Amino acid sequence: MKTQVGIIGAGPAGLVLAHLLQRAGIECVVLEAQTRQYIEERVRAGVLEQGTVDLLNELGLGERMMRQGLMHYGVELRFGGRGHRIDFADLTGGKGVMIYAQHEVIKDLVAARLGAGGEIIFGARSVSVERLESEKPAIRFEKDGAAKELECDFIAGCDGFHGICREAIPAGVLTTYERNYPFGWLGILAEAPPASHELIYANHERGFALMSMRSPKISRLYLQCKPEEDLNEWTDVRIWDELQMRFATRDGFSLTRGPVIQKGVTGMRSFVIEPMQYGRMFLAGDSAHIVPPTGAKGLNLAVADVRVLAAGLQEFYGSGKREMLDSYSEICLRRIWKVQRFSWWMTSLLHRFQSDGEFDRRRQMAELDYVTSSRAGMTTLAENYVGLPME
Ligand code: FAD
Ligand code: PHB
Repeated sequence: MKTQVGIIGAGPAGLVLAHLLQRAGIECVVLEAQTRQYIEERVRAGVLEQGTVDLLNELGLGERMMRQGLMHYGVELRFGGRGHRIDFADLTGGKGVMIYAQHEVIKDLVAARLGAGGEIIFGARSVSVERLESEKPAIRFEKDGAAKELECDFIAGCDGFHGICREAIPAGVLTTYERNYPFGWLGILAEAPPASHELIYANHERGFALMSMRSPKISRLYLQCKPEEDLNEWTDVRIWDELQMRFATRDGFSLTRGPVIQKGVTGMRSFVIEPMQYGRMFLAGDSAHIVPPTGAKGLNLAVADVRVLAAGLQEFYGSGKREMLDSYSEICLRRIWKVQRFSWWMTSLLHRFQSDGEFDRRRQMAELDYVTSSRAGMTTLAENYVGLPME
């Protein structure tokens, strides 16, 4: 088998890349370890930056998102028993974010690609990459018990944090930058109408909590917990009681409760490797970096990477030049580090750190007060949240 670009992983990075290449007339094949059903049901992120929304629309992939997604033009920061709205539209010249589940994006991207005759090989096993330094790298895999080889001009490693592409780069090439946080998020999906029209990020003595949503009938809620929290110790009633305490306001805010239909614990880390390319393989999305979810950036950063990669590949196939491909890491990393900074900052601003003393607690409250009262402070949060412009 042969193609121009072999893409490993059908997450947001791999699938958006496939659509960008298809638009540019570049051939590609997507290989995915899981089944179609599995990736279409995996509950993950829910916030799309304005730029991601615009790109999906430009690619003709936004029809269902525009119908079913919820466009938000602000968020609330809640602390000291009071809410403070950050007005994105006012602070960023009309920009906002779209609340639309990652697995719904995946469904739309898969349906459009298969509908246009594009190839996605699901259930690819024992995937490995070969001859990365050569002009013709290859992907080896097994499908239905048969060994296959896909020869490519380039390989895009879009296989997430636990994928094989990053690991295939020889020792000594990559530098890793990492931070682990001493807490996780316990997240639930509930059949309950969201108690507010917009997301609420709460900093409470008992820890952080977030109220998000998937539709006017489904809430998505998170609370700060131990990284190794045992879900069995959390009955639905205990989760709702804890959330209610963390969101409480002086004027008697009350969460709407309902059946919990999914729950899980997510660890929190910041992680970056440099560079994001080796020979003819380019890493994009979670395979190269992870952000803590507090800034809602994971999916958006994956999409930003593949926009740069697609532009570089388009330049290469159009004119034979490699300048942009050679600068792929450098261009992506400028955005990645700004997004890392923002995600770390939102995380530090909103969580309780056990190690913090009273000084740090008071400093944190002063920062929240500043960010919700100074127009400069609010603008910093707003312009990062809706997404920095693409270079
Ligand atoms: P992924 O979405 O991970 O896609 C990688 C794909 O590669 C997967 O489909 C995987 O099955 C496939 N794959 C892996 N190995 C192989 C292989 N060897 N061969 C072939 N295919 C392979 N972000 C937020 O902003 N907010 C959140 O609330 C949030 N929640 C999250 C919860 C969880 C449990 C996780 C894991 C992530 C969450 N994220 C969240 C992060 C966000 O979902 C990711 O940043 C985003 O999915 C990155 O997209 P990606 O395409 O780079 O990687
Ligand atoms: C979500 O809706 O899943 C979500 C929203 C905002 C975040 C993280 C996750 O910061």
